Amino acid sequence: MRVGLLTGGGDCPGLNAVIRAAVIKGEKQYGDTFVGFLDGWLGAMKNDAVSLDAASVRDIIDKGGTILGTSRTNPYKEDGGAQKVVSSLRARELDALIAIGGDDTLGVAAKLTRDGVAVVGVPKTIDNDLSATEVTFGFHTAVQVATEAIDRLRTTSESHERVIVCEVMGRHAGWISLYSGIAGAAVAVLVPEEPFDIDEVCELLRERRSGGRSAQVVVVAEGAVPKEGSVSVTSSEVDQFGHVRLGGVGNALAAEIEKRTGFETRSVVLGHIQRGGSPTAYDRVLATRFGIAAIDALHEGAAGTMVALQADKIVRAPLSDAVSQPKLVSRSLYESVARPLFG
Ligand code: F6P
Repeated sequence: MRVGLLTGGGDCPGLNAVIRAAVIKGEKQYGDTFVGFLDGWLGAMKNDAVSLDAASVRDIIDKGGTILGTSRTNPYKEDGGAQKVVSSLRARELDALIAIGGDDTLGVAAKLTRDGVAVVGVPKTIDNDLSATEVTFGFHTAVQVATEAIDRLRTTSESHERVIVCEVMGRHAGWISLYSGIAGAAVAVLVPEEPFDIDEVCELLRERRSGGRSAQVVVVAEGAVPKEGSVSVTSSEVDQFGHVRLGGVGNALAAEIEKRTGFETRSVVLGHIQRGGSPTAYDRVLATRFGIAAIDALHEGAAGTMVALQADKIVRAPLSDAVSQPKLVSRSLYESVARPLFG
């Protein structure tokens, strides 16, 4: 088979591990040949690609980002974009495509499937918000990075008797804040799914302060909103998938906490530090399992599916299921594992 690969959307630790696994397995077991389209769907539209083989990908498992580059280009928002993708595949005599991405990239893959292209999807996102898989690769690394940062913030918070608000990524899903906030013993963890009560947050901080000197870190997802307010945005810019650029809730919350409690408060935005750098061992292994499963899926006639993890087994889910709705933090999980330890 001749197979195209691409990585789309925000980059994510583990992308190179997927590419490596798919290419090595495909070449060794099936005699496949590969090209990698550059910058996601943009390269697929422009027919901008490089050849990939086992030798060229053997040593990239620990490398962050993506050797193919990425973009948030949506062919269905470009004039004749989908047709250009199909023409590129024809021009390079490709039989199939492996699309590695989140809901946007895989949403395009699902539409291309309907247009007759053989595509298998691989679920990527640090946000962990894709349905049909229990976990996406990249999430574990982002949580680890955020937790290490929160640990450092706790010691300086305690030394200076300051509150520190730590803003982590997560536009609509609070998985990173939930996991890193629990692991980092935050005073409160605020997620987009549950609008927060600023009075309650201040009360938790007062209680903590009354117990003597201790760390006081509040973890907030970038998409978290106060009960009475709306999403805080720093820009009205939107990408081709209609996402606004978020950010700013951490600063706003810190100012409000200081005003209401009189406690000196600082804010830290972790931002893209959570997305860059080398994947954890867990993400390298998960990404490798996904890469192997993707090439197997193509050879077993399972185009139109996304490889996924369920009960620690790799399974296949229809691409359309994977992108139908985001996987959010449920109220019961938040109430049972986060809230009991607030304060
Ligand atoms: O989708 C992953 C993600 O990291 C989100 O958590 C975040 O809101 C967004 O990407 C940031 O996107 P960009 O890199 O385009 O600023």
